[in-house]
Formats: sequence, structure tokens, C-alpha cells
Amino acid sequence: MAADAPDRYGVIGYPVSHSRSPVIHRLFALQTGQNMQYELLQVPPEKLVSAVLQFRRTGGRGLNVTVPHKTAVVELVDELSERAASAGAVNTLTFAPDMVRGDNTDGVGLIRDLQQNLGQRLANTNILILGAGGATRGIVRPLLESGPSLLTIANRTVSKAEELRARFAPWGRVTACSFDDIDTSLDYGLIVNATSAGLKGETPPYPAAAVGPTTCCYDLSYGLQPTPFCLWGAANGAALSVMGWGMLVEQAAESFYVWRGVRPDTAPVLKQLSVSAS
Ligand code: ATR
Repeated sequence: MAADAPDRYGVIGYPVSHSRSPVIHRLFALQTGQNMQYELLQVPPEKLVSAVLQFRRTGGRGLNVTVPHKTAVVELVDELSERAASAGAVNTLTFAPDMVRGDNTDGVGLIRDLQQNLGQRLANTNILILGAGGATRGIVRPLLESGPSLLTIANRTVSKAEELRARFAPWGRVTACSFDDIDTSLDYGLIVNATSAGLKGETPPYPAAAVGPTTCCYDLSYGLQPTPFCLWGAANGAALSVMGWGMLVEQAAESFYVWRGVRPDTAPVLKQLSVSAS
């Protein structure tokens, strides 16, 4: 390989053709002068292992990992970061000469978007997470570490919320319940939609009474049009109703930092994606 050949990175997922990660990482690379390229790897679950190994064998330096592979790649990793271990999921693989490192930048991406881009205070507030799947797993610990008074995980299947409550109880005050049993007498500073219901065009029975005039409604999903959850938040008088574009850019920036040791400026990239963060 020529000395000035770009270092290869990419995102592996299924489906992944809609991913904005190549655009984001190209903008980061341009901005910081890093000589790298970023590819899309559309790979079904049964080909995951061989595709990752081949990417590495042919000189690949790192991969972002997205749905549905975030849990499965854990077994390909030699060294798991603490934040990936607590999430039980990996979204960033780094191929060192002698080992594969696995990290998870989703949680820090959400916290940076909330605190730095959106100016939300999380300490001493009540936080409500709707959903108890893979997306929730990645954000509970970083949210608890931001010091809320209470974090409630509500889910259609209560046993899954309870499982996460038990897992993350060492990091703060956390409760689990069904949508019906959410304590709507509390003021929630933040309500996060971590269900996949919106993607399927379904609208779960979210508790309208939990939304107050100071609540930020944050959807981990994002699209060109406001998601059903964002519309629901706005209709119920939330102070702010936002989609997860900022989290997407911030988690990408953290992955970029893990790989290159350079922290890109996220603001112009968020702007260039032509989405407003408020
Ligand atoms: P992800 O990795 O995106 O979190 P997941 O692990 O399949 O995906 O989890 C999907 C989450 O969305 C779960 O909390 C699921 O609720 P259940 O645990 O009860 O299945 C939630 N979800 C999906 N469709 C839903 C719907 N129509 N109403 C309520 N919750 C829904």
C-alpha cells in the first residue's frame, strides 16, 4: 500500500444503506485533515464474523457497528471498554495490530447532545425512559452518572424493564414499571423514547400526563420528518421535542476521537446535515 493511502474505516449493519455515518465521517476527516476513507458494509447476521475478519485482514482500521450487530460483535472483541461492557453492546471496533478493541460511544453521544448542544441540565432531575431494549441498555449508565434524582424505565414488557433496573441499580436511583404505572405526579426534565415503535409506525400508550412545560422529549430515532414521539411531545406541551440527530453526530465524533485521537467540531457537521437541533 502506498504511504499516503487513506486509512480505511466503515459502518457495518443490516440494512445500512440509509446510514448518514459516511457523510458525517467524511466531513470530520475534511475538517481535521485526517487521511481516511469510510465505507458502507451491508452485511446480514450470518455473514457478520467473516465480513469483520475480512475487513480487518485487508487493512481496515476500524468499524462502526449498527443494528442488528451491536451485541453479536462483542464476541469478536479482545478488549472491551468499560462503557461497552456495561452496555453489553459495541458500536465502535478498533483493529490494533495485535488485538480488536470494542467500545460504545452511544451513551456519551446522547449526554453531549443533551448537555452541550441542547443546554439541558440532568443533575437532580427526574428522567423517564420509554422502552427497555438494546437502545436503552446503552444510555442508562451514562444518564445515571449525570446525577438525576430518579431514573424510571417504563416498558410494555415490564420484566425487561425490571431486568435493566437490577443491572444498573449500582449506578443510581432507578425504578422500573409499565407505561400505565408511570408516576405522573413527578416533574420529568427529560423523557427519552428508546422504543422502536415509531419505526414500525406504531404509537404506544405514552403517558401524556408525564409531559410538563419544562420537559425535554428526546427521540433516539430520527428522520427527515418529526417522529410520532416528537409530535406527541410537542402536542402535550413539552419545552423541547427533538430527534436524535445530535446524538448521531456526537457518537460519531467520539468514535472518530477513539480512532484518530482528534476531536472534530460537531456544530458545523450538524448544520450541514441540514437538521436543526432545536
Ligand atoms: P432496540 O435495539 O432498538 O432497543 P429492541 O431491543 O428490539 O430494539 O427493543 C425494542 C423496544 O421497543 C422494546 O422496549 C419494545 O418493547 P417490548 O420489550 O415490550 O417488546 C419496544 N417496542 C417496540 N414496539 C413497541 C410498541 N408497539 N409499543 C410499545 N413498545 C414497543
